Amino acid sequence: MTIKKVMVIGAGQMGAGIAQVCAQSGFNVLLNDMNEAALEKGMKNIEKLLTRAVGKKRMTDRDKTDALRRLNSSTELKDAHDCDFVIEAVVENMEVKKKVFGELDAVAPKHAILASNTSSLPITEIAAATNRPEQVIGMHFMNPVPVMKLVEIIRGLQTSDDTYKAIESMTNKLNKTPVEVKDFPGFVSNRVLMPMINEAIYTVYEGVASPEDVDTVMKLGTNHPMGPITLADFIGLDTCLYIMEVLHEGFGDSKYRPCPLLRQYVKAGWLGKKSGRGFYQYS
Ligand code: CAA
Ligand code: NAD
Repeated sequence: MTIKKVMVIGAGQMGAGIAQVCAQSGFNVLLNDMNEAALEKGMKNIEKLLTRAVGKKRMTDRDKTDALRRLNSSTELKDAHDCDFVIEAVVENMEVKKKVFGELDAVAPKHAILASNTSSLPITEIAAATNRPEQVIGMHFMNPVPVMKLVEIIRGLQTSDDTYKAIESMTNKLNKTPVEVKDFPGFVSNRVLMPMINEAIYTVYEGVASPEDVDTVMKLGTNHPMGPITLADFIGLDTCLYIMEVLHEGFGDSKYRPCPLLRQYVKAGWLGKKSGRGFYQYS
């Protein structure tokens, strides 16, 4: 099938990044969020990043104008009625995602593929909220989307080969590298990355070192581009906690127990960079 029109649901850091990359790659895009302020912020951020790319001579002014012309905003899921492909990037919560997929299934055209950018949740279960599980797939972009080259593609139990091929081809068109991964908690990226971040938070919790020192050790000592505490703030502490909970529950192994400090920060509303405060202050 040919994908021409795309809807991205959730205009947060991931959804806005996915919408930007799709619009830059020639797709017509609707960026959807139920929160108008979040939608406006996401659209403004895309424009800012494209302007920056023009300033850095990574794209022409004409390319920027064309990309912005292909990008429109939406606050209604029913706007998916003429989309060939819909990707969801809302909060990492199974009940919320199932609700979105159930509603989408009712409004999206029969041929449309429905994807989730979930970091860790089972695609098979998300697919079961629809009447088209063979057309549901995981398409896991990395943050920041315009920069990171990887997309993990996750087949649910019933995902068809045609759906897989269409998403693999789309990933290539977005100039990203696809890697197929089985439907297991955390897939590969977060099964490996998130326990490392959780362990880094434990070292802070246990007073082994300050957040700054943990980050310095991992940056200078192991050549990570960002220290794990900065990375946790960058990803969002709520997202980190939800992923650890999925790993903990999915594998039933205490080695995935989320650090109590991570829980406490999320309860306080300290969600990292996006909320202005996490382990560090942003403003
Ligand atoms: N959005 C878009 N572009 C961004 C960006 C953002 N949030 N942050 C940085 N960039 C771009 C900059 O514009 C810059 O491009 P130009 O040079 O063309 O201007 C380029 O990235 C490099 O940025 P900087 O020089 O400012 O900073 P840097 O060299 O430290 O790189 C970084 C920034 C790419 C984010 C780097 O620190 C990095 O790779 N960090 C680790 C990122 C990572 O691990 N991501 C995966 C997170 S896990 C995940 O995504 C999965 C999940 O489910 C949670
Ligand atoms: P975010 O909090 O920045 O944005 C989520 C957006 O979804 C918000 O703007 C919110 O208003 C919107 N939203 C919530 N429910 C909605 C609904 N029912 N309909 C429409 N919009 C709705 O979150 P994020 O960091 O962009 O993460 C989104 C998804 O991407 C999560 O599943 C997360 O696990 C995954 N992910 C995150 C990262 C990361 O580094 N943050 C990386 C890869 C994947």
